[in-house]
Amino acid sequence: MIKVGIVGGTGYTGVELLRLLAQHPEVELVAITSRTEDGLPVATLFPSLRGRVSLAFSDPAKAALERCDVVFFATPHGVAMAQSPALLKAGVRVIDLAADFRIKDPEVFQKWYGMPHAAPDLLREAVYGLPEVNREALRKARLVGMAGCYPTSMQLGYAPLLAQARALVDEGHLVADCKSGVSGAGRKAEIGNLLAEASDNFKAYAVKGHRHLPETVQGLEAIARRPVGLTFVPHLLPMIRGIHSTLYARILPGAMDTDFQMLYETHYAHEPFVDVMPPGSTPETRSVRASNYLRIALHRPDGGDTLIVLVVEDNLVKGASGQAVQAMNIMFGLPEDTGLRQIAVLP
Ligand SMILES: NC(=O)c1ccc[n+]([C@@H]2O[C@H](COP(=O)([O-])OP(=O)(O)OC[C@H]3O[C@@H](n4cnc5c(N)ncnc54)[C@H](OP(=O)(O)O)[C@@H]3O)[C@@H](O)[C@H]2O)c1
Repeated sequence: MIKVGIVGGTGYTGVELLRLLAQHPEVELVAITSRTEDGLPVATLFPSLRGRVSLAFSDPAKAALERCDVVFFATPHGVAMAQSPALLKAGVRVIDLAADFRIKDPEVFQKWYGMPHAAPDLLREAVYGLPEVNREALRKARLVGMAGCYPTSMQLGYAPLLAQARALVDEGHLVADCKSGVSGAGRKAEIGNLLAEASDNFKAYAVKGHRHLPETVQGLEAIARRPVGLTFVPHLLPMIRGIHSTLYARILPGAMDTDFQMLYETHYAHEPFVDVMPPGSTPETRSVRASNYLRIALHRPDGGDTLIVLVVEDNLVKGASGQAVQAMNIMFGLPEDTGLRQIAVLP
């Protein structure tokens, strides 16, 4: 059994990790931390876990994290980079759901996250947690910086186009119009997340620059091995879970005859969690709710030179905790879908 610890067990990605790991046949939950709920039984805070998780929260300073085989950080940015060096030294593998180990350049990290990087020497070693792109590197990884929720939808949505030897679309002017449910902002008290503010409403935010932009461009350029330009505008949807990304790409004159449907189906033919839907489909967020699937559908209005890629995922599962469990499965040599075979909840 893999001994698992979770730092930040009271947040939304934390409770989602608990839901998935409590059903995982190869995992033993050893420690779950909270600074605010030290001593409280997990199932008291989350009755959904009654009878399935018998642990109590413990303060991170007291938790037996060094006894674990792997520790997940489901914490705000800045926490994992401070605590990972000691855990790695103790032989514990680390999977961070925050941004600490996603961006390779510490100056870019500081610019977007407003703090100097506390462990820049670990950035080179850290593997970016996007299994469909980095599966081989994940097998040997000690330290993983999981892909963000929007970045997962954008990278998996554009990857088949960018992975080609020659450009098929105008890679300098990709446009991503993305929408997320409010759980993407975490389980904290903020006026913008109140029911009376977020429900029955729809708006863009961070239009002049969102933190997921540098991470996504870095990832897209790693796939393409060429420079990529991206405009990314996130929106807040009045729902709890789910991301819907509408990705646009202008097809180059020399690529107008490309069978994009075939390209995507071939690229993802052996991926357990990426579903390329029939041409012209309109994927719905509820078709992936609480599941680790990401669904993609292609459109080419009027057969013209604009390719539209529709992508849906659950921000807390494929966009966070499910993908983190997928990465753990790869790191520990388990079948990649172990504990992740849940079907979406509908309606
Ligand atoms: N929500 C999403 O859809 C999503 C998707 C992908 C990635 N992420 C990333 O995943 C991370 C967690 O997100 P979330 O939405 O679960 O956040 P959240 O709901 O706000 O939860 C944060 C958790 O971290 C703990 N925590 C806060 N400061 C800490 C510290 N200094 N030391 C130790 N524990 C601390 C909190 O517990 P206590 O205060 O009780 O200790 C809480 O359990 C974030 O970095 C986020 O960007 C989130």
